[in-house]
Amino acid sequence: MALVAPSMLSADFLHLEKDVETVNSCADIFHLDIMDGVFVPNISYGFPVVDAIASAALKPMDAHLMIVHPEKYVGRFADAGVAMLSAHLEVMEDPASVMGLIRSYGMKAGIAFNPDIPVEKVFPYLESCDFVLVMSVFAGFGGQKFIESTYSRVQELRNEIRRRRLCVTIEVDGGISPSNSSALVEAGADILVAGSAVFKAADPAAAVRAMK
Ligand code: DX5
Ligand code: ZN
Repeated sequence: MALVAPSMLSADFLHLEKDVETVNSCADIFHLDIMDGVFVPNISYGFPVVDAIASAALKPMDAHLMIVHPEKYVGRFADAGVAMLSAHLEVMEDPASVMGLIRSYGMKAGIAFNPDIPVEKVFPYLESCDFVLVMSVFAGFGGQKFIESTYSRVQELRNEIRRRRLCVTIEVDGGISPSNSSALVEAGADILVAGSAVFKAADPAAAVRAMK
């Protein structure tokens, strides 16, 4: 059974408390997409929103940093109460040291990467991180179409983690819905991030149950 992490990017920001309640009651993790308009061509939200979510969140928060210089903000996210923090492989000069910094604050450290990055690029850092965030769309926007090659990428990563007997969790993010969730879990995913499929559903709790 997978853990489901609704992406708050698809929440109703005018009624954020209601959508925080949705996650509290039926899902496992708050996925927070932080975009800077530099690494990705979109700007999402920052600390005031993270703090607002934190004030009502009963489940752990997972911040997905789509920003340049993620190392600058690690302490701020720790102070905000984030439990899982990921940064993109594409922007880190020294991924192992960024992961070490995240761990030094007691958070789980994750490496995220876009669909055009070969999976093997993350292999040298598997000992340095607690989870890997495999993007199944290009980072930047919610509501995009799932990229089918993700299944084999997740499988390849799962095989490598098994082969080296590591304890690294696989999170997958982008275009996930009840239509592809079970195939992703079969491929080796542990955590499924879903924005539109949860918050645009008539019954978000049923959508989460279907993905679990
Ligand atoms: C995309 C984000 C995703 C996104 C997922 O850059 O990382 O977390 O919000 O949204 P859906 O599920 O709508 O693709
Ligand atoms: Zn994300």
